[in-house]
Amino acid sequence: MSVDVASVPAAKAKNFPLYRTVTGFVRDPLRELERISKESDGRLIRLDLGASHPYLATHPDHVQQVLRRESQNFLRDGIFWRPLRELMGDSILSEGGEWEHSKRVLQPVFTTRNVNRLTGMMAEAINTAVGKLDAPAREGRPIDVLPEMSRIVNETVIKVLFGDKISPVEANRLIPTFDQIATSISVRFLLPFVPRALPMPGDRAFKDAVQVMDEVLFELVKRYRDDPGDGSDIFTALCQAPTEDGAPPDDRWIRDNLLAMFATSTETTTLALTWLWPLLHDHPDVEARLVEEIDAVVGGEPVRPEHLHRLPYVTQVVQELLRLYPVGWMFPRMATEATTIGGVPIKPGDPVLISPFLTHRLASVWDRPLEFDPERFTPENIRKRHRYAYFPFGGGPHQCIGRHVFNVEAQMILTSILSRFRPTLSEAVPAMPKIGATLRPRQSLEMTLTPVAGHGA
Ligand code: HEM
Repeated sequence: MSVDVASVPAAKAKNFPLYRTVTGFVRDPLRELERISKESDGRLIRLDLGASHPYLATHPDHVQQVLRRESQNFLRDGIFWRPLRELMGDSILSEGGEWEHSKRVLQPVFTTRNVNRLTGMMAEAINTAVGKLDAPAREGRPIDVLPEMSRIVNETVIKVLFGDKISPVEANRLIPTFDQIATSISVRFLLPFVPRALPMPGDRAFKDAVQVMDEVLFELVKRYRDDPGDGSDIFTALCQAPTEDGAPPDDRWIRDNLLAMFATSTETTTLALTWLWPLLHDHPDVEARLVEEIDAVVGGEPVRPEHLHRLPYVTQVVQELLRLYPVGWMFPRMATEATTIGGVPIKPGDPVLISPFLTHRLASVWDRPLEFDPERFTPENIRKRHRYAYFPFGGGPHQCIGRHVFNVEAQMILTSILSRFRPTLSEAVPAMPKIGATLRPRQSLEMTLTPVAGHGA
């Protein structure tokens, strides 16, 4: 593993003019970015996207500089954040004072102690949601993987967000609208420089979904804002948030943060879990080892949070899954002061893109980068690596606060499914995802679940 490129000062970024990349970008943007990243092998890249010329930093040293060492300089600002800013105002996904205030309120929800309290509730929701796969499994009916993972994740996340404060009717209205927002915003997210006045695909669906979502959320806020009661969930924490004058927090601020939390927690977890099944299909040895571990620890019982610390291989598989498919695959920053990255001068206002997807696939950082191998995440192997060789949850002050929730949730869902069923994908799946705000598979994946004798189904 050689990671010494950053120490060689490069006076110029590696430029990729549009005429050299446009055909590739039109045909398959993610593959073109992967090609560019491979060719640059850790050197700072300058992309030409016509209306914008962002830098792309893939080397672990450069990533560390942008996300951590100079996080005060590289802010979440600029054109690439516009669609999110418009949707979620001054939530935890913003920057500066507003971000700090939201983070101060939400951080305590994600302490190990509170996550441990939430996990009991999550386990219950997961066992019930996975139990609904019994019927198709018994009938030998294949399931469509992405919508089923989405259903299981949503039924779980709604508990983390609202505890017992939301009715099933409200949850059933909210879940599909959140989903519609996530899919319909992707065009604006990818083409942030297109003016609002120019209609784009997805705009109508997006507007309709926001309207329904606001009806449900503001009704909930009205009901609980002044008297939130107890609860370890996110909604309760937001309603209890202290304000300087002692007044209850602003309705819009609660709504913006609920939406930010939903946006960051559902689509990411759903897609990560969707990519798991093609990987296991291609690696029956990994699946066999997982099944052996889960059978020994969980057997035919419903999965419980206490099982998790005895499932080290499940942890390794989930970590390696996020290496190959870090679903928050690209996040932008904007320089506010002049600096240099790898010897290349950066001016105030320059956008710098960071992509775990690309860094995780660099041959100079990872041995056999395209191979799925959970052995990379044994404690000894983790210790040998650069801190920023692997960063599916970002780093520095904005590092994902939901990473423990994700780990617990993904490990329990994987364990619950494999303790009850043996999965078979209907066909082999191309490994390359489709570009968007997250990494979605290009086509639907069908999977048949065979019930394990005496285990639930
Ligand atoms: C596979 C699952 C997930 C992935 C890959 C992921 C990835 C990320 C990344 C890369 C960031 C940093 C963004 C940046 O630096 O601009 C982030 C931030 C964040 N994530 Fe996650 N996330 C996941 C799950 C979750 C979950 C389950 C939650 C909540 C329950 C969550 C809540 C957040 C929040 C609130 C932030 C903003 C933190 C801040 O700016 O202070 N994420 N996530």
